[in-house]
Amino acid sequence: MDQKIINQFPSLKREINNKAICYLDGPAGTQVPSSVIDAISDYYKKSNSNTHGFFASTRETDHMLQETREKIATFLGAEAYSCISLGQNMTSLNYSLSRALGRYFEKGDEIVITQLDHESNRGPWLALEAQGMVIKEVAITSDGTLDYEDFKNKITDKTRLVAMGMASNYTGAINDFHFARAISKKHGAFLLLDAVHYAPHFKIDVQKIDCDFLLCSAYKFYGPHVGILYTKKGLLEKLPTDRLRTVDQHPPYIIETGTLNHAAIAGVNAAIDFIASMGHGDHLNNKLDSALTSIGIHERSLAEKLYQFLNDAEKYQIVGPSFGDGERAPTISFYANDHTAAELCTLLGDENIYAWDGHFYAIKASEVLGYEAKGGVTRMGISAYTIEADIDKVTSFLNQL
Ligand SMILES: Cc1ncc(COP(=O)(O)O)c(C=O)c1O
Repeated sequence: MDQKIINQFPSLKREINNKAICYLDGPAGTQVPSSVIDAISDYYKKSNSNTHGFFASTRETDHMLQETREKIATFLGAEAYSCISLGQNMTSLNYSLSRALGRYFEKGDEIVITQLDHESNRGPWLALEAQGMVIKEVAITSDGTLDYEDFKNKITDKTRLVAMGMASNYTGAINDFHFARAISKKHGAFLLLDAVHYAPHFKIDVQKIDCDFLLCSAYKFYGPHVGILYTKKGLLEKLPTDRLRTVDQHPPYIIETGTLNHAAIAGVNAAIDFIASMGHGDHLNNKLDSALTSIGIHERSLAEKLYQFLNDAEKYQIVGPSFGDGERAPTISFYANDHTAAELCTLLGDENIYAWDGHFYAIKASEVLGYEAKGGVTRMGISAYTIEADIDKVTSFLNQL
C-alpha cells in the first residue's frame, strides 16, 4: 500500500491541533475514499428518485441498485444478485432473519451460537428462547478462540442453525468456519456467518464455504452504513419473512423493509470499485481477489509489528491468539497494567491516535475472559490505509507511558 491510497482519503489529511491523525479504529468503521463520497453526492445531484418509475432518474436508481447487488454478489462469490438483500445494518438484517427463522423452526429446535460473537449475532438468536427454541453457546478458550471440542458437543440432530462469526472483532481470532460447515451439514443444520469483521481483510467465497447465510456491513470496508445479507439461492423464498403485500414477493426483496438508502448503496458500489482498484486482473472478481491478497499481506505485516511490541512489553497483555501460520485478523486488543482502557484511549486520543476501549459489543467474550469487570481492553485495528509511521507513532507513545 502506498501514498496513492492514502491520498484518496480526505479524512486522513485532517489535522487537529496541528497534528496528523492516526486512525486505528477501522474495526468500528473504516474511513471513506473520495470516490465513495462522490458517488453518494452524485446520486443526490442526479438520480434521487424512488424505484420502478417511468422517468430517467428512477430508471437510473433501478439500474444502480441492480448493478450494486451484482457487484456485492461478485465481492462475496454469490450465485446471483438475487442472493443479496440490503438493509440498514447487519444487526437489523439479522433480527429480520431471526424473526423469519423463528417462525420456520419449531419449539425444542436448537440453535448454536458462540461466546465470542458480537452481540448482534447472539441477541437475535437468544430472543428465540421466548418461543421455545433452545440456544446453546460454544465456549471460548483463554486466548480468545473458540473451543472446538465444546463446539462438537453442542451440536446435535436437533440443531437447526449454527450462527457464528468468521473473525472476532474483539480478539482478532479467525474461526474455523469450514469445520462449522462440515459439522452443521452432518446434522442437517443451517450455517450463518457474521462476516462483518472478516470482509475488509480477506476474500470471501460463499459458494466455496457453502454457508446458508452470511452478513456483512459496508462501513467496515471503506463504504457507507449499509447492511448486507447473502442467502443461498433457493432458500429465502421458503422463509416466512416480515413483508408488506406491496413488496416484490421474490428474493432478494422479500426480507427488505421500506425504502432503502439509495445514496448510501451508490456508495457501496463505489467502495467495491475502490477495493478492486488496488488489485489487477481482467474481471472484477480477479481484481478483488488480488486486491484483498495485497491488503491482507500489508495489514498483517503492520499488525505483526504492533503485536511484537505489545508482546515484548511487560506492562501490556494481548488478548487474542498469536500470528501463527494461518489467518488472523489485523486487530489487536490488549490490557494495560497501569491504566484502564478508557484512561489509555483518552491519553491516545489526546495524541490524535484513535483507538477504542471496552468490549466492542462482544460483551459476552469480555465477561468470560474477565476483562469486563476491569473496564475492558484497548483495541487497535489495521486497515489498508495504515502505514508503518502510524505503528511507530503508537509504539513510541505506548513505550514512554
Ligand atoms: C463482528 C461484528 N459483527 C456485527 C457487527 C454489527 O454490525 P452493524 O453495525 O452493521 O449492525 C459489528 C459491528 O461492529 C461487528 O464488528
